[in-house]
Amino acid sequence: MTVPQPPEPIPGARLLFSLDPSVSHLNHGSYGAVPVVVQRAQQRLRDEMEANPMRFFGPGLVDRITHARRHLAAFLGADPDGTALVGNATTGAAVVLQSLRLRPGDEVLTTDHGYGAVALSVARECARTGAVSRTLPVPLTATDEEIVEIVRAGLRPGRTRLLIVDQLTSPTARLFPAAALVAVAREQGVPVLVDAAHAPGMLPATVASVGADFWVGNLHKWAYAPRGTAALAVAEPWRERIQPLVVSWEQDSGFPTRVEWQATDDYTGWLAAPVGVFTLRSLGVDRVRAHNAALAAYGQRVVGDALGVVPERLPAPGGPAVAMRLVPLPPGVATTLDAARALRSRIAERLAAEVSVAGWNGRGYLRLCGQVYNTPEEYDRLAVRLPALLAQG
Ligand SMILES: Cc1ncc(COP(=O)(O)O)c(C=O)c1O
Repeated sequence: MTVPQPPEPIPGARLLFSLDPSVSHLNHGSYGAVPVVVQRAQQRLRDEMEANPMRFFGPGLVDRITHARRHLAAFLGADPDGTALVGNATTGAAVVLQSLRLRPGDEVLTTDHGYGAVALSVARECARTGAVSRTLPVPLTATDEEIVEIVRAGLRPGRTRLLIVDQLTSPTARLFPAAALVAVAREQGVPVLVDAAHAPGMLPATVASVGADFWVGNLHKWAYAPRGTAALAVAEPWRERIQPLVVSWEQDSGFPTRVEWQATDDYTGWLAAPVGVFTLRSLGVDRVRAHNAALAAYGQRVVGDALGVVPERLPAPGGPAVAMRLVPLPPGVATTLDAARALRSRIAERLAAEVSVAGWNGRGYLRLCGQVYNTPEEYDRLAVRLPALLAQG
């Protein structure tokens, strides 16, 4: 089998970013990267804030946040009145968990592809309320149909109060059939939180098309927004029940404003976030998606080849737009959190490449992303140098 052709570069796109050129940034998925024009827009807003904090934090600020939220909700295909801006996906998930008013014996159901910090949040909420959490094992090789069947069989109607599904998973870079899982849970009367942290800007599915009770997604990953910009979309019947983590002055304004207003904070990232969406649109959303997915596929293949992974054993992403791919590491390498972190640091220091490394179910994986600022040569270089680094132990 031949290595897939890398995509044509998007001209000038790398110049939009201020990334250190001496490093290969192959992990857009963790913290994103903010285009310079977006950084500038946020800085101008900060200048305005510092010129007169009293005026900036006056009554007009809530209106400006509402305006930014409407813009972002339209981009996400979400109901602007049912969507709150929040700082990040972790916060959005915590808002949902703490608003559910779980009771002893209630169950929160997740899968073993879920995000670690959200799992910790579930554990704490269960410990606080007497609810229990259960994790469904889903094999990395499961097809969409198999995933739906595993979840269907795992639901306990009347007991399962929340199903949490990650649309595109963090440790395994697998696109889950989120809409089908929501439908299955709905048949059994189980509400669903879709953790779509990676969806905005990467995946074409709209919030409305997923149809979840609760949906949370980060705009600061693939939609080029400043960090600290995420959206929590809530279906109509639940909105009244949603409470912010911190009670502040807008508490009586109802959802979404009472969730958004979190006292004195820096709201400039949210106000500048539409510039990130504009930047993505000006490059061409579909073109960026196709480019990033093709580049990630290329990277997976060349690094996989270098590590001796036969192409058939490279984990499949589950859909065409996925711009994050996994490469299995040799058995025994980076199987624990600490070992994965140590390997990530060594790759960063010795190979000048930023990647994600995670241990999942006893196997270590490298996660590679594709983004408009990446070039095929960056993956080629990693592929040439990684085997020797791993051989050093
Ligand atoms: C699936 C998933 N959920 C939640 C998060 C957390 O995002 P944040 O740190 O912005 O809250 C991530 C981050 O990568 C993620 O991949």
